[in-house]
Amino acid sequence: MEFHSVLIIGGSGFIGHHIVDKLALTDWRVMVPTRHYDNAKDLLQLPPVDDVIEADVHDEAALDRLVPGNQAVINLVGILHGTQSKSGERYGPEFAKAHVELPRKIVAACARHGVHRYLHMSALGADKHAPSMYLRSKADGEEAAFSNPAVATTVFRPSVVFGAEDHFLNLFANLQKYFPLLLLGSADARFQPVFVEDVARAFVHALQDESTIGKIVELAGPKVYTLRELVRLAGIFSGHPRPVIALPEPLARLQAALLEHMPGEPLMTRDNFDSMKVDNVTSNSMLEAFGIEPTALEEVAPSYLQGRRPHEHVDTVHLNRPR
Ligand SMILES: NC(=O)c1ccc[n+]([C@@H]2O[C@H](COP(=O)([O-])OP(=O)(O)OC[C@H]3O[C@@H](n4cnc5c(N)ncnc54)[C@H](OP(=O)(O)O)[C@@H]3O)[C@@H](O)[C@H]2O)c1
Repeated sequence: MEFHSVLIIGGSGFIGHHIVDKLALTDWRVMVPTRHYDNAKDLLQLPPVDDVIEADVHDEAALDRLVPGNQAVINLVGILHGTQSKSGERYGPEFAKAHVELPRKIVAACARHGVHRYLHMSALGADKHAPSMYLRSKADGEEAAFSNPAVATTVFRPSVVFGAEDHFLNLFANLQKYFPLLLLGSADARFQPVFVEDVARAFVHALQDESTIGKIVELAGPKVYTLRELVRLAGIFSGHPRPVIALPEPLARLQAALLEHMPGEPLMTRDNFDSMKVDNVTSNSMLEAFGIEPTALEEVAPSYLQGRRPHEHVDTVHLNRPR
């Protein structure tokens, strides 16, 4: 069998693990750069992974070493938090670097080295005029992803993604484990959560389907929920249902500002709050067009939120294959 190789930048994260795992069923081999080898070396156990390399992907010279020899590049790098923009700027420097400058550099490197195919991860709601820096920078990132005609790009926009290691339902489940009640901002914001395995299947499908070139692919699950409903479900599924009290907007923004200034990775920022001012839903999800039946949250979230099967959907059949 002739193998193709794909460089997956940001492949060490939640969604990356699932895409890598799904590629086991194909003729694609994978290389993953990471900022911290020790945090990502577990990927070497997944059969399609040829190498995990510590590298600074923002450095063009590093990209010139990583990109050549691949038939495709996938970019999953994304951040949720960054500093506020200075006056006149639409987002702060961290969002600019991770969401806009990086895809521009990757696409340029692909063009320099004759790598024809690029799959780019954006987010549902990406819009130049969106209320948050996250969504505005994601929109500019999409433009960067399509910026070079020599590179055939597909952009993905998922709604919030759920799965055993997700950063969303697990957060609300954990908060309800430790606090007697939850004070919730943006309680009526609407989401259409999509299962991580379905997102991974969509990437693998697009890698092999040239008709997706030049397209923006929205990905969403079968049902729309308010944030309040999702938080309640996380409490019920994890066995710690707590009262959820919706905060009026000024208090919710104050709460976000306070959380933003807590030490460590913030639970919530004003920018996250601003992201939720627009609904995160779509009637154009492409899953079914790709032959993927969208998985219901109720089908999988109860088991992983109870902590029973932390990696239930990562297919470990080939984990012991000799390397
Ligand atoms: N999860 C969701 O619900 C969701 C919804 C919509 C869109 N998305 C988008 O999907 C993508 C992947 O999401 P995820 O949940 O898998 O994220 P994740 O678990 O945080 O993984 C992202 C990976 O990107 C790398 N990374 C992060 N910040 C970086 C930076 N400043 N420079 C270079 N590399 C960096 C990290 O790899 P190393 O630490 O190994 O370097 C990390 O493992 C992101 O673009 C996100 O915006 C996610």
